[in-house]
Amino acid sequence: MAKLIYSALASLDGYVEDEQGNFDWTAPDQEVHGFVNELERPIGTYLYGRRMYETMVYWETVSTDGERSVASREFAELWRAAEKVVYSRTLETVSSARTHIEREFDPDAIRRLKESSPSDITVGGAELAGQAIAEGLVDECHLLLGPVLVGAGKRALPANVHAELELLDERRFRSGVVHLHYRVRASNA
Ligand SMILES: NC(=O)c1ccc[n+]([C@@H]2O[C@H](COP(=O)([O-])OP(=O)(O)OC[C@H]3O[C@@H](n4cnc5c(N)ncnc54)[C@H](OP(=O)(O)O)[C@@H]3O)[C@@H](O)[C@H]2O)c1
Repeated sequence: MAKLIYSALASLDGYVEDEQGNFDWTAPDQEVHGFVNELERPIGTYLYGRRMYETMVYWETVSTDGERSVASREFAELWRAAEKVVYSRTLETVSSARTHIEREFDPDAIRRLKESSPSDITVGGAELAGQAIAEGLVDECHLLLGPVLVGAGKRALPANVHAELELLDERRFRSGVVHLHYRVRASNA
């Protein structure tokens, strides 16, 4: 069965964007970007909340010529090759290939997708992922915590969810980013 995985780049105090809507402080350097690419490589399908999709669709059209870093070019190729599902009640059309819109996040449909999918699946941004964690659908989390405090904003992890986690791996990067890889043992909202 495929795993559903939530990955997030966040501040040390646990936010994916600050109160002003900025998240430039999560921008990965080459070392972290290369690592993120290795996390993405085996993924067949991305489940996106509409807001995260609107940020990530940049990778559909970005130039992949030699002026960009190797990690950026590689990420664009991985992104374009994956299937994408965008959850939205407002979005009318999508502007990327291999993409369709779902109007409701149906936990049973996700369970069926996990059973039938030949490769692992990711979920993001934080709002959609929070629902998936609360439903007990998320099997693993990758948190990349940067050395910055932003005080408030959009939480990387949902409020009002109790979950037991097992630390599978950890790693430190030169930039001060720390990677924490957890398996979700059990969760309930
Ligand atoms: N930290 C980072 O590295 C990083 C990287 C990229 C982006 N970001 C930013 O992080 C933020 C993440 O966004 P977010 O967590 O606020 O939102 P999100 O989960 O990406 O998207 C929320 C939207 O998804 C749709 N949605 C959510 N639940 C749904 C459901 N049950 N059924 C149908 N549709 C549903 C709704 O879209 P509608 O309103 O259309 O109905 C909702 O407004 C974005 O601003 C993104 O730009 C951070």
